[in-house]
Amino acid sequence: MSLKLNSKYLKNFVNENELDGIKAQVETAAKVLHDKTGQGSDFLGWLDLPVDYDKDEFERIKAAAAKIQSNSEVLIVIGIGGSYLGARAAIELLKSPMYNNLKKDTPDIYYVGNNINPTYLSEILSICDGRDIAVNVISKSGTTTEPALAFRIFKKLVEDKYGKEGAKDRIFCTTDKARGTLKELADTEGYETFVIPDDVGGRFSVLTAVGLLPIAVAGCDIDALMGGAAKAREDFMADFDNNDCYKYAALRNILYRKGKSVELMVSYDPSFCMMSEWYKQLFGESEGKDNKGILPDSVVFSTDLHSMGQFIQEGSRIMFETVVDIKKPKQDIFLENDKENLDGLNFLTNQNMSVVNRRALEGTILAHTEGGVPNIILEMDEINEDNLGYMIYFFEKACAVSGYVLGVNPFNQPGVESYKSNMFALLGKPGYEDKKAALEEKLGR
Ligand code: PA5
Repeated sequence: MSLKLNSKYLKNFVNENELDGIKAQVETAAKVLHDKTGQGSDFLGWLDLPVDYDKDEFERIKAAAAKIQSNSEVLIVIGIGGSYLGARAAIELLKSPMYNNLKKDTPDIYYVGNNINPTYLSEILSICDGRDIAVNVISKSGTTTEPALAFRIFKKLVEDKYGKEGAKDRIFCTTDKARGTLKELADTEGYETFVIPDDVGGRFSVLTAVGLLPIAVAGCDIDALMGGAAKAREDFMADFDNNDCYKYAALRNILYRKGKSVELMVSYDPSFCMMSEWYKQLFGESEGKDNKGILPDSVVFSTDLHSMGQFIQEGSRIMFETVVDIKKPKQDIFLENDKENLDGLNFLTNQNMSVVNRRALEGTILAHTEGGVPNIILEMDEINEDNLGYMIYFFEKACAVSGYVLGVNPFNQPGVESYKSNMFALLGKPGYEDKKAALEEKLGR
């Protein structure tokens, strides 16, 4: 199991004194986190989750996954933000971004309720036509509009196809243990429910039933995933000098204070794309408040070297890169020599394609650092469940510590409410009448 921070390319950007200088702040932040005395301390359930989770429910998750695998060709995962990104990220990393197109003995998985676009939903409804489906609706609050709307449509689809009784075998609800519209509906209809613990916020919930059920349906080993996270929990209790998680939190803050206000998560594997989306929510929602925070963004190389590469090399010097360096790809391709060499590519042959990708990584790190972009490297030996669990915990803890060092509450998201109340008002939700009139006026209607 591995995830190692390599800071050797930071030499021209951060010196040892600076790390020493911020060390006490990071240690204080970590103590506040462990002692549960900081802001948002009601939402620290994820800290011990890898060892302190509901083992009976864990077995029920596996049983539900096996049932879905045996009776369904398609699983519809309904959720938004923290209620879907982690599952999708894990499945695409561990299996493939082309998961649905692979030959496999597990159901295809589609994600809905993460937008309100009618074309997107219609297309997925068509894909379900004539196929056996199961639905996992995930919402902690149980009241979020996007998933609630999608669930209304898929609930009807399942009931029309299998009847009210049959739907009980095919609809699984992941929500609060006691509160919310979804919990009430699930109890009324007799659907199996899984719990999002009170003290685990959405973006920290991938290792609860929120992520685990879809991940298990995709055939991933959720025991190994939790095992990796448990190992990280242990490793990242170490003191600062032996703790890559704390050092990463420290480096981010040092760079931020030097004007680097954008972090680009870089990977050389398209299967990491959704992990970057998960990382963006985790850090963006946790740190972006009080007019502060590093803007999390992401690129996949070499793809984006042909779109964003110019800006990164020579544009505004506002960013640093965090490169996820996965040493061994899941598959490799041997590049054969071509007698005619018409394309002039024989200099690349008689070796694996992963070597070409590695030289691209090395060359790019050197070019970007020379162009004034600090590069933090996170090295992972290979993609598997253990390493993913380890990495998830690494980022979660780094995010919490980094947020406390920044001086924000990493566990709330007050800003997310603004668009919701505007949308409700414009849609004429009862109780929003005054606001509707004011907004209509601003829109010039
Ligand atoms: O991290 C968060 O809290 C949010 O992104 C939520 O996960 C997201 O808004 C979905 O909320 P809910 O699970 O209540 O539907």
